[in-house]
Amino acid sequence: MSAIEKIKAKAKLNIKHIVLPEGSEPRTVQAAAQIVAQGIANVTLLGNSEEIAKVAAETSTDLKGVLIVDPAHSDKSADYAALLFELRKAKGMTTEQATELATKNTLYYGALMLKNGDADGMVAGAINSTGDVLRPALQIIKTAPGIKVVSSCFIMELEDKQWGDDGVMIFGDCAVIPNPSAEELAAIAIASAATGKQLVDMDPRVAMLSFSTKGSAKHDFVTKVQEATKIAHESAPDLKLDGELQADAALVASVGQLKSPGSTVAGQANVLVFPDLQSGNIGYKLVQRLAGAEAVGPIIQGLAKPVSDLSRGCSVDDVVSVVAITAVKAQ
Ligand code: ACO
Repeated sequence: MSAIEKIKAKAKLNIKHIVLPEGSEPRTVQAAAQIVAQGIANVTLLGNSEEIAKVAAETSTDLKGVLIVDPAHSDKSADYAALLFELRKAKGMTTEQATELATKNTLYYGALMLKNGDADGMVAGAINSTGDVLRPALQIIKTAPGIKVVSSCFIMELEDKQWGDDGVMIFGDCAVIPNPSAEELAAIAIASAATGKQLVDMDPRVAMLSFSTKGSAKHDFVTKVQEATKIAHESAPDLKLDGELQADAALVASVGQLKSPGSTVAGQANVLVFPDLQSGNIGYKLVQRLAGAEAVGPIIQGLAKPVSDLSRGCSVDDVVSVVAITAVKAQ
């Protein structure tokens, strides 16, 4: 069974309610029907019901069992606008702006459903940028208790099974924090390990990547990774984590033992933590394209309720998979 099939099976064991704000987007409409038919999650599509029905007819999709809510005509919109105003008034939001967002912007309406306990998770991004999907989540749902920062990771499924756990690896952060501080990098490492545990039953071995291994090079960039490694060790003393490591020292046993002798991570890492978003985003796309890996994500970690971002190039199957991941994160 592939990693994503296992996640779908987990989702079916405890069904959650996922809201899809891009309700009239054709791939989303088709995915909603499949998700409900397969028993992966209960789904609400947000948007104009006539438009959604038109897309369903054009794509021969049967929306039986899928809920449809139009924020412009919903009974809840006034309460959500009041909730949004309360949450954002200190940041200068007016009641008019809150009403506008709660009734016309489905990404805000979806985030408000989660905040109000009316849905368990949200998935969007088929037609919106990562920033536009995350901003309402960061402003409204905010971080989980005890978590300072929201970040992301990908589940990478490689054809070559020698890497990670039978070809399955976690890469973080490849989508959210452009230039993390040492504290934020430590938080990304701990959160990525937890996601690996939660979603693919991984026993995480975390490599803090750099262009240096154990002081082989000196630079401010390297110092940041060394500091992050120290902070992560202090915050999560039981986590198997080593740094700073070059990618080959993290992955190849002979190189790992040479450059970081005695390490429980070097040469056998299954979680790779990149020092910044440029390296993380480039790194996952290179592995996806050059090695033909399946890249599942970005999986957003650290929010009080799960919100997931889709790639704008996503397929119907991708939407189904990301909803399954979000549902499992909500369990
Ligand atoms: N964790 C927790 N809170 C955060 C984070 C974070 N990582 N980032 C911002 N916030 C909070 C801020 O403190 C602020 O809170 P407040 O308004 O209550 O004070 C709120 O979120 C909004 O912050 P802004 O700085 O105004 O938001 P910004 O416009 O910077 O957006 C975002 C944040 C969207 C995460 C931004 O960092 C971003 O665009 N990141 C890159 C996304 C991207 O383009 N990724 C690559 C493509 S994805 C792919 O290829 C798979």
